[in-house]
Amino acid sequence: MPAMPPVQIQLTIIGCGTLGRNIVDGLLRSVSLQPTKNYRLSLTTRNPQQLSGLQRDYPTALVTADNKDARIWQGSPPSPLHIVVIGTQPQYTASVCRDISEAYMSFHRSPHVPVVVTVCPGITMSQLAQELPPRAPIVRSMPNTPVAAGQGATALFANQWVDAKSMNQVDHVFRAISPTVEVLDREEMMDVVAAVSGSAPAYAFHLMRSLADAATARGIPAHAAQDLIVQSFLGAAMLARQCPPESLSKLLSDVCVPGGSTAKAMATLDNYRASEVVDQAVQASWVANQAMGDSWTRQNDGTDDPAKATHKI
Ligand SMILES: NC(=O)c1ccc[n+]([C@@H]2O[C@H](COP(=O)([O-])OP(=O)(O)OC[C@H]3O[C@@H](n4cnc5c(N)ncnc54)[C@H](OP(=O)(O)O)[C@@H]3O)[C@@H](O)[C@H]2O)c1
Repeated sequence: MPAMPPVQIQLTIIGCGTLGRNIVDGLLRSVSLQPTKNYRLSLTTRNPQQLSGLQRDYPTALVTADNKDARIWQGSPPSPLHIVVIGTQPQYTASVCRDISEAYMSFHRSPHVPVVVTVCPGITMSQLAQELPPRAPIVRSMPNTPVAAGQGATALFANQWVDAKSMNQVDHVFRAISPTVEVLDREEMMDVVAAVSGSAPAYAFHLMRSLADAATARGIPAHAAQDLIVQSFLGAAMLARQCPPESLSKLLSDVCVPGGSTAKAMATLDNYRASEVVDQAVQASWVANQAMGDSWTRQNDGTDDPAKATHKI
């Protein structure tokens, strides 16, 4: 991993909701990046209740309801790099890009355009570039909610205006909350990873819940069932992480003694075509991720009411 240069970056999260909070929580747990020493944090949201929640939970951050707040954009002292994460729902991305553009044009003191980082699938580089300043460096990212525990998995894709130094810094921010960071070289793959690693925690929670329900239905106390199952997933993931990716089948067969009870359980999953069901689930999610870019078009041509739209990963 390249070393973190000894500079203080400015990190802004516009629309600090569930994922934004997960990112901040993960950063605050990180030992590799220290708030105020390595980065200055600004958070925005528009709802007064959420605003006071952010002020209460993150007292060291600048919290504001105004995406164009001069204190964010003038930066005192100016940082050599400003990373702006758009954490809103997809249908608000275009208007947030316009806020960023206007604020940058009004207040900037640095010759560098901020690096804009999105977390939303479907919305493409070319759509984003329409509303951002010319030659804006943009990174599309796809983290997942385990970033809150410093255990996220994140994919990144950058446009041609992101220089190596800035990319190094973006990579460092995500690596502080996400032991796995994969930089992809094909933009369209971002919508696939959104359907896989972006959503993977949901698959894990779904399966854990099903196992917990099965355990409690057979008399195991709920807390014991949850503890045993969660630790089993954690241990299995750690075991899998120690092994090369092609060994997942080997790990599976190691648990399944031929003719044993686990082998019977897995045969039952196969009989119900569980792998095909997962593939269909990923397909549905992938299609939905690609369609999120449509909310941009609808919003910009006035055919969408953002207040009624609910698309999210
Ligand atoms: N949650 C996940 O697991 C996950 C994983 C990967 C990527 N993502 C992506 O992350 C994005 C956010 O998801 P989320 O689950 O964090 O959504 P969320 O909890 O709804 O958070 C979005 C926040 O942005 C605020 N907001 C909306 N428009 C704004 C504006 N113009 N200025 C300032 N704040 C604004 C919202 O306020 P209101 O409540 O008033 O609307 C809300 O607090 C989505 O694009 C999603 O696809 C999510």
